Amino acid sequence: MFGQLFPRKRAFITGAASGFGLEIANKLAQDKWHLAIADINVERLASAKNELEMLGATVIAIELDVTDWSAIEKAASQIKQAWGGVDLVFNNAGVAGAGKMEEIPQNEWERILNIDLWSVIYGCRAFIPMLKHQGSGHIINTASSAGTLSAAEMANYNVAKAGVVSLSETIKVELAPHNIGVTVICPTVFKTNLGESMSGETANERNLQAQLDESKVTSADIVKDTFKAIRKNKLYVMTQIDAKLGWRIKRWMPELYAKLMAHCYKKRIWIYKHLK
Ligand SMILES: NC(=O)c1ccc[n+]([C@@H]2O[C@H](COP(=O)([O-])OP(=O)(O)OC[C@H]3O[C@@H](n4cnc5c(N)ncnc54)[C@H](O)[C@@H]3O)[C@@H](O)[C@H]2O)c1
Repeated sequence: MFGQLFPRKRAFITGAASGFGLEIANKLAQDKWHLAIADINVERLASAKNELEMLGATVIAIELDVTDWSAIEKAASQIKQAWGGVDLVFNNAGVAGAGKMEEIPQNEWERILNIDLWSVIYGCRAFIPMLKHQGSGHIINTASSAGTLSAAEMANYNVAKAGVVSLSETIKVELAPHNIGVTVICPTVFKTNLGESMSGETANERNLQAQLDESKVTSADIVKDTFKAIRKNKLYVMTQIDAKLGWRIKRWMPELYAKLMAHCYKKRIWIYKHLK
């Protein structure tokens, strides 16, 4: 799978009990990796552990809340003690949120920023010293095209994911001299259980849910590109055409991009088509 890149085959994955995280774990399990899987959902975590062991992985299941710094720090120590280090660190757990800027309640802003941004900061802070000591490894942070495209009525999620993109770009440079790779995942919508993390009470959340329901893109598609990026030590993973195209238009013609987005929003087209 990764050739001789990571012969000791050790990975830490947050949000590994469902969706993208579970798909990553599945693929690594088929290659007999040692997996430390972390999640807040105890039942799904237990069933993931069984599934992965049946596929041939050695599994440590860690029930934790990624917003708890001491829990992440403890997980890092546990892994060091069990396996002497780690090769791949996936800071992946996340939740979705949407709403008009001024209507998103304060506690919802805090929930999204804590789970989607602070967790990734914690994951990087906890594992970078271990990776530097080894002089090897790769950090993979799950952002979203929300962090690169800044769609309307998703300010809290966009801000968190833009933070993840910026953090990843920064440490890519900082860690290069230490032989540590960094990749940031920026997909548009693909099919997972992400919608369960929203209340579904607002029009914006229902719009996002409708996109999740009708997406034909799967976690397996994103994992394939992610593993390729790790092998080639590429920074960005943008699988879907709208993720790639939107990012390029925004970088090359930022004013035009803002106008196009405003037009789509006003006319309720593209990602806004379900927004009532
Ligand atoms: N599905 C999409 O369309 C999409 C698009 C872009 C980015 N993403 C990102 O992909 C990542 C994975 O999400 P997914 O789509 O697989 O959704 P998912 O809901 O299927 O999986 C997310 C997992 O994270 C766990 N989790 C949530 N809060 C947690 C916490 N506080 N502590 C520990 N674990 C927690 C959940 O229990 C769940 O198992 C997220 O960061 C999400 O923002 C998803």
